[in-house]
Amino acid sequence: MTEPIDTLAQRRLTIMDVSAALPLSIEAGWNQVAADWTLMVCTGHALGLVDPAGILVATGIAVPFPPGFGRLCMILVTERWRNRGLAKRLTRACWQALARESLVAALDATDAGRRVYLPQGFRDQYTLVRLKADLPVVFPVQPPSGITVGPLPQHDLSALCAWDAVRFGARRDAVLTDFRKRMPTAAIQATDQAGHLRGYALARDGRVASQIGPVVAEDAAVGIAMILAALAALPGPVYIDVPDRHSTVIETLRSIGFVRERCFTRMVHGRAAPFDHPDQIYAIAGPELG
Ligand SMILES: CC(C)(COP(=O)(O)OP(=O)(O)OC[C@H]1O[C@@H](n2cnc3c(N)ncnc32)[C@H](O)[C@@H]1OP(=O)(O)O)[C@@H](O)C(=O)NCCC(=O)NCCS
Repeated sequence: MTEPIDTLAQRRLTIMDVSAALPLSIEAGWNQVAADWTLMVCTGHALGLVDPAGILVATGIAVPFPPGFGRLCMILVTERWRNRGLAKRLTRACWQALARESLVAALDATDAGRRVYLPQGFRDQYTLVRLKADLPVVFPVQPPSGITVGPLPQHDLSALCAWDAVRFGARRDAVLTDFRKRMPTAAIQATDQAGHLRGYALARDGRVASQIGPVVAEDAAVGIAMILAALAALPGPVYIDVPDRHSTVIETLRSIGFVRERCFTRMVHGRAAPFDHPDQIYAIAGPELG
């Protein structure tokens, strides 16, 4: 590989670039479909490096979640252009874009990505495990007494988004609305006897597997009941990314056929304290969106 890196042009990506970007996540074996790229490109600062033939060879996206942080995602470099500093360059451009809006950069790193981010000042916060099941053995479980688990009604999500923001650390209406639309039958809520929200679970389609997440609840028993209810509505292979601290959830998922596929590390730029409340987040939306 002798092409000099100064032949690459850096430019902002738009929705028109989604079909050119998808092969990069497929090459990495990732799960995103065009709808995921579209969501991130439309809500974030999406950057690409394009070779002289017009081929997109690397990407990086910074999605703002004001007022505190933004998420770095889709740091991808095609094999032919790796080990030449392109991921480092795109990572820096992404966190600088967030810094200009006074937002701190957070991300969920693969092992390879973590080696790029550590020298740039990102610090580890906690680890997550990706579990996969081809055919989970689904059985209904009783939620704790006084809690009802059932389908999330098709009304406006703004109350749910406000409840979620306290736990996630920011409003993410665009993400939650997008996921609910993509897999409405797997959208689940938990409510108490007064009708107050006590948890929710969403899922979406993926290239390799459907993905459950986010799953946010006030305790693990509610989280597990919602995950099992969502699973009952999903066909075929399923991914779920669970913070390692939730060992009861992980053990339950293993008992119904889930196996560990890989791990991620939640990292934040120059800061050790998390923005979210990971004790109430039983599954993240995914490593791209946190
Ligand atoms: C991870 C990835 C983005 C790295 O891209 P890249 O352009 O080759 O990385 P860079 O050349 O900018 O490397 C930056 C630093 O990380 C190191 N690094 C990158 N990949 C590494 C790996 N797999 N193992 C060890 N070190 C690695 C480089 O040695 C370099 O260190 P240096 O600055 O001390 O020389 C690329 O391999 C990729 O697309 N992988 C698949 C998708 C992925 O995992 N993305 C990260 C998501 S969190």
